[in-house]
Amino acid sequence: MHVYPTKALLTSLLHYFALDLGQADADWLSKPAKTSHAEIVRNNKGTDLFMDDFAMDDLLRLYSQYNLLDKIRRKGYDAHFEIDVSDPFVHKISIINHSLPASEFILKAFLRRKIYQLADFKSYQRLRRESPPIQSLLHKTTSKELVHNLEQLYGSLSFSINTIEWLCLQDPAQSLTYQRPQLPGQKHPGLGLSHEILTITIQMSLKQGRDAVCALPDHFHNAILFRKKGFLYLNPAYQAIFDSLCDNLQSEIDCHGLSYVSWAVKYGYVKCRDGSSFSIVASIAYKVN
Ligand SMILES: *[C@@H]1O[C@H](CO)[C@@H](O)[C@H](O)[C@H]1NC(C)=O
Repeated sequence: MHVYPTKALLTSLLHYFALDLGQADADWLSKPAKTSHAEIVRNNKGTDLFMDDFAMDDLLRLYSQYNLLDKIRRKGYDAHFEIDVSDPFVHKISIINHSLPASEFILKAFLRRKIYQLADFKSYQRLRRESPPIQSLLHKTTSKELVHNLEQLYGSLSFSINTIEWLCLQDPAQSLTYQRPQLPGQKHPGLGLSHEILTITIQMSLKQGRDAVCALPDHFHNAILFRKKGFLYLNPAYQAIFDSLCDNLQSEIDCHGLSYVSWAVKYGYVKCRDGSSFSIVASIAYKVN
């Protein structure tokens, strides 16, 4: 399997044009975040509202609207819905069956609310650090000038985003079989409800007036799933590469299945033109508002 971009191109894209997602909220190089932003980012201590906005009933209503709990119950589970708002930054939803051990959950969704500003863009951070070889990429300008221009253009910009820190939906009573082969990262077969869970996550963000939902897909098949739902890579260059990767691999997917291709990407059997193995680990976003 061959796709066109070279490792060098991917590496420079990764270094210069990516958003740092899920990292510590402090960026030591940037000016301190405005107070209002800091307050928005941090969920209020002591609240029992999920992400400061949803009572248990609101969430249950949303989950019932998409028949998620019914569909899980029809698989023989006594689905129990729990929220954990003890961490001020990341709130957690779990669906479990009480008789099963904690590791054999049905759903876990970890969500973080975060305000992204210019300082969160790696390209801006690299420019400010003037880390080599960035100056060698700039011919007619200096990194200082670029930093200045970026600050003029985007200095006041901020995106309010719900990030999916971790999302796992599985059928814990079932084992992986030849008919339902294991995908990278799976311990049990999936439930076929990823579409619904992403719809619910987007609906939550819409109700909260967020700008976008972000995630960092771990594996090729996850990225495909997000793509089907309308997520795009934040960096348009990545999106172009991913689209051509999907086109290139479609016949392999049709012939051998998505699991086979996802493992092939994971283990480096999908090669760039220069023979190096191919991977994209970058943030993907769904524009809500
Ligand atoms: C779920 O838990 C109930 C008891 O609460 C049990 O009867 C049932 O067998 C469990 N379902 C599965 C699939 O393990």
